[in-house]
Amino acid sequence: MASVAIIAGGNKIQSRLTGVVAYAETYLNNKGIDTDVIHVHQLDAEALITADFTNKTINETHQIIDKADGIVIVSPVFKAAYSGIVKTYLDLLPRGAFTGKTVLPLALGGTFAHVLAIQYSLDPVIKELGADTIHKGRFILDKHITANEDGTYGYDQEAEEGLNKTLKKFVSDKAQVKE
Ligand SMILES: Cc1cc2nc3c(=O)[nH]c(=O)nc-3n(C[C@H](O)[C@H](O)[C@H](O)COP(=O)(O)O)c2cc1C
Repeated sequence: MASVAIIAGGNKIQSRLTGVVAYAETYLNNKGIDTDVIHVHQLDAEALITADFTNKTINETHQIIDKADGIVIVSPVFKAAYSGIVKTYLDLLPRGAFTGKTVLPLALGGTFAHVLAIQYSLDPVIKELGADTIHKGRFILDKHITANEDGTYGYDQEAEEGLNKTLKKFVSDKAQVKE
């Protein structure tokens, strides 16, 4: 069975970004794909910020990346780019960590003015990590996701349609990789 590692680059769990992560997880699980989520902000902050390549917990997450055949990077847009939180994690990945893998970037932002921000800033980093295929990502406007008080999330039609379209293509590409 195919498995996908989701790298979440938000700064907290109580965020609509977690709603994007949850949506992607449910979609992939419903297609029979295993998912593991790495919430970068829950890792050792000092190790991340000092680029400590010896941190045991962070290095253990590399096994999740290693065994996955697809990677989804979910990041908020901060200052017209993907989050620095994501970058601290990607910097600690071993050379060629994404070799043989298909990578899908998903961005959550407040303005469509930055719809291409992730593509311009993140794609070169993904390529540097050796990804075979970088999928055309999806920018989701934050106002199209609602954080409910009970910890669940609501999705406007725009968010749902966009995510479905993007994830469908990602899954069908994965099927080709598997064959
Ligand atoms: C410091 C900061 C900078 C941001 N910069 C941008 C930006 O440049 N472009 C954009 O589209 N959204 C930007 N946003 C909006 C966030 O990406 C968006 O509102 C957030 O991911 C939604 O998550 P939340 O549910 O935790 O608020 C910024 C938000 C913050 C806090």
